[in-house]
Amino acid sequence: MVGIPVTDLSRGRRSIALLALLALGACAVTLVGGMVASLAYTSWEPAVRRSGLTLQHLRPIHESFAFAWVFLGGIAVVHAWLISLGGPLAGAERLRFRAMIALWCTAGAGILVSLLAGRFTGREYAGYHPAFGAMILGGWGLFAWNFFARAGFSLRGKPVYVWMWSAAIPLFVITFLEANAYTLDWVSRRPLRDIAIQWKSNGVMVGCFNLLAYGSILWVSGVMRGDDRYSRSATGFLLFSVGIINTFTNYGHHTFHLPQTPWVHWVSFLVSMLEVVILAKVMLDLWNLRRRGTPAEGLALPARFGASVTLWTFLMLATAIAMSVPPVNSLIHGTHIVTAHAMGTMIGIDSMILWCALSWIAGGFAGPGSAAARRPLARHAVTVLDISLFAFLALFAVRGAAAGLARQLGPSAPDLSVFVARFPGLMVATGWTLAASALWLISGWALVFARVLRSGPVAPGPGAPDPAPVEGARRLPA
Ligand code: HEM
Repeated sequence: MVGIPVTDLSRGRRSIALLALLALGACAVTLVGGMVASLAYTSWEPAVRRSGLTLQHLRPIHESFAFAWVFLGGIAVVHAWLISLGGPLAGAERLRFRAMIALWCTAGAGILVSLLAGRFTGREYAGYHPAFGAMILGGWGLFAWNFFARAGFSLRGKPVYVWMWSAAIPLFVITFLEANAYTLDWVSRRPLRDIAIQWKSNGVMVGCFNLLAYGSILWVSGVMRGDDRYSRSATGFLLFSVGIINTFTNYGHHTFHLPQTPWVHWVSFLVSMLEVVILAKVMLDLWNLRRRGTPAEGLALPARFGASVTLWTFLMLATAIAMSVPPVNSLIHGTHIVTAHAMGTMIGIDSMILWCALSWIAGGFAGPGSAAARRPLARHAVTVLDISLFAFLALFAVRGAAAGLARQLGPSAPDLSVFVARFPGLMVATGWTLAASALWLISGWALVFARVLRSGPVAPGPGAPDPAPVEGARRLPA
C-alpha cells in the first residue's frame, strides 16, 4: 500500500475540510437526534415531552440529517477527487463553492430550527418546509456546475467512480423535484399517485447517495493501494449498471400495498438483490486486494473501516434476502424490522464507507506521525461500533418480529412480553454506546479539519509520506 497523497489534497484542503466538517456536523446531529429519539420509547418520555420534544419532532430531524450526512460525506469525497485532479478551487469555482456552502448552511440551520419548533410536513424523508428544499436544490446546482466544469461531460475511458458520481448528480435533481411534487394540487389530491411518486422518489434518492458512497469507496481504496485498475474492471461497471437500474426500480419494495401489477414488485426485488450481491463481491474483492499489502502507517484505521463495510454488506445482503421472501415480507411490514434494515444499511454500508474515507482524508491532513492520526484506541472504537450496532439492530429486529407475529398469529403467537418490556432499556443502552463511539471517532477528525480551516498550509507531521507525487494518486486518470 502506498502513502496518503498529502501534497495533492493539501493544495485545496480548506474546501475539503469545510465540507467534511459540514458532513460530520450532520452526522453528529443524526447521532444525538437518534439518542434523544430513543428516550421517547422509555419511561423518560414524559421528561422529553416536557422539554417540548416528541418523536414527531425527533424522527424527521434524525432522518433529514442522516440523509444530509451521507450526501455531504459523499460530496466531500467528490471534492477531494476534484482537487486531486485539478488543484484548489479558484475564481468562479470558488464563488460557486461559497454560495453552495451558504445555501446549505442556511437550509440546515433552518431545517433544524423549524423542525424543533414543530413545523413539519409529515412527509417521510422530506419533513421540512419546501423553501429549504429549494435552497438545497440551488446548492446542488452549483455543485453540479463545479463538478462538470472540472470533470467534463464525456465519460469515455473514465473510471467507474466518475460514472457513478456523474449519474448521481442529475438523478438527484430529478428525484428531489419529484419528492416535492406533493406541493402541487394535482399530485396531493390523488393519494395513489402521491404515494407512488413519493416512494419512487425516495428510492431514487437512496440510490443517488449509494452511488456517491460506492464511488467514494472505489476511489479511496484505489488511491490507498496506488492502483485504480479495479475501478475500470467489469465488476465495477456491473455494479454501476445494476445500481442505476435499481435506482429506478427499488421503490417497488415500498409500494406492495398499492394496487400495482406484480411484475413491478418482482423486477424491483430481483434487481435490488442483484445489486447487493455485486456490492458484496466488490467489497470482498477490495478486501482481498487490501490484504495483499500491509497498510502503511496512518492507513490502519481506514482499512479497519473497510473490513467493517465488507462484513456489514454481507450481513445486510442476508437480511435483505430474508426480508424479501413474500410470507416474511408480510410479517415484517410496518414493524421495527424495517427500521433496523434502513438504519443497518445506512450505518453499516454508507456511513462505514464515509467514515473510512473521512478518516483517510483526516489522517492525510494530520500526517501519519501525528497524535490525531495515531489514536491507538480508534481501532478498538470501531470494534465497539460494530458490536453495539449488531446488538442495536438485533434488538430492533426481535422487537419487530414480536409485533409481526402478534399481528399475524394473534393469541397463539409466542409470548415475548418479557423481551418487549426490556426492549426500550436495552435499545437505549446499545444505541447510546454506538452513538458514543461514533461521536468520539468523528470528533477527532473534526478537530483535524477545524485546525486545517483555522491554520494556513499544513506541514505533514513526522513520518508523513514523501511529498513527491504518489503514483496513481497525484492526478488520477480522468
Ligand atoms: C449515523 C447513524 C444513524 C443513521 C444514518 C440512522 C438512520 C435512521 C433512519 C434512516 C431511520 C428511519 C428508519 C425507517 O425508515 O423506519 C432511523 C430511525 C431511528 N433511529 Fe437511527 N440512525 C442512526 C443512528 C441512530 C442511533 C445512534 C440511535 C439511538 C441511539 C438511533 C435511533 C433511531 C430510532 C429510535 C429510530 C426510529 C424512530 C421511530 O420509531 O420511528 N439512530 N434512523
